[in-house]
Amino acid sequence: MGDLLIRPMTLDDVEDAERVSDEGFFELETRMRRVGDPAPEHRSAAHRRRWLERTRHLVRTDPGGCWVAEDGAGTVGMATSLRRETLWCLATYAVLPQRQGQGIGKPLLAAAMTHGQACTRAMLSASMDPRAARVYHQAGFALHPQMHFTGTLDRSALPVVEKVREGSGGDVDLMDSLDRATRGAGHGVDHELMLREQRLLVSDTSTGSGYAYLDERGRVALLAASNRRTATRLLWAALAEGPDEVVLRHLTGANQWALDVGFAARLQLHQAGYLALRGMNPPAPYVHSGALL
Ligand SMILES: CC(C)(COP(=O)(O)OP(=O)(O)OC[C@H]1O[C@@H](n2cnc3c(N)ncnc32)[C@H](O)[C@@H]1OP(=O)(O)O)[C@@H](O)C(=O)NCCC(=O)NCCS
Repeated sequence: MGDLLIRPMTLDDVEDAERVSDEGFFELETRMRRVGDPAPEHRSAAHRRRWLERTRHLVRTDPGGCWVAEDGAGTVGMATSLRRETLWCLATYAVLPQRQGQGIGKPLLAAAMTHGQACTRAMLSASMDPRAARVYHQAGFALHPQMHFTGTLDRSALPVVEKVREGSGGDVDLMDSLDRATRGAGHGVDHELMLREQRLLVSDTSTGSGYAYLDERGRVALLAASNRRTATRLLWAALAEGPDEVVLRHLTGANQWALDVGFAARLQLHQAGYLALRGMNPPAPYVHSGALL
């Protein structure tokens, strides 16, 4: 296999990094599959394209935050991270299944974390891999269980939702302010990436403001608001606009308002993974993004 080398990721590494990540998460889902879970699948072509675009974006914006591990056999591990204002986020992190548990992941994470050395806060969405939970806890992260809803939306439960409009690039300053109030840092350049790929809903009234991104499947990808009432309104609007078969991920215990909505919509609650945090409490009212947090 040869000696292990941990070095910054370049644009030329992104396709190999994608393969490592896809293998890592496919094997994880196979290993952790519970009764009733759908059969794990490799990334679709469309998902792969979005993954590549997001990772190229991060290699450009955060060259010091994106790393690969390689040995004589090629790329065996990858980690991408970003720094926005005083917040560091881990976007993706994986080691090839046959090379896990051999001490590759820890130095890879340490390299990515050097990028966040000057940051006062950090967040990442941890998978349910017991190895990942161990590594993050050892790195000083507090683990907050994540919940998610699935099921068929009961459209008869949808309330009449007003004061929600389509958003645009003109809303970035508003969104950055909401990001700062909820998670302590704006998404900045990541809004450009999300605006290219996702639909944006905005509510901006005299009593509160907020926004929600809906991904290509109509699922909530990120939601932030100045109060629970506005967050609730946006979540209902997002559910109404989305598909009948709902997947609503990344809910923490600090966001009981989202549980109120999900149960009222007659969805089923589950639990998987953790929101891992350093120097901060779980953001609220907030539904975090898996990679851009
Ligand atoms: C999480 C991941 C990147 C870690 O990389 P890795 O190379 O396996 O990590 P390391 O070998 O450096 O360290 C793993 C730690 O978990 C421990 N470990 C190994 N097998 C374990 C198991 N079955 N259960 C719990 N801990 C385990 C190791 O002993 C080590 O801890 P220690 O050094 O304190 O003894 C890798 O396992 C992976 O790709 N998992 C699948 C994808 C994933 O979940 N990524 C994280 C996304 S948030």
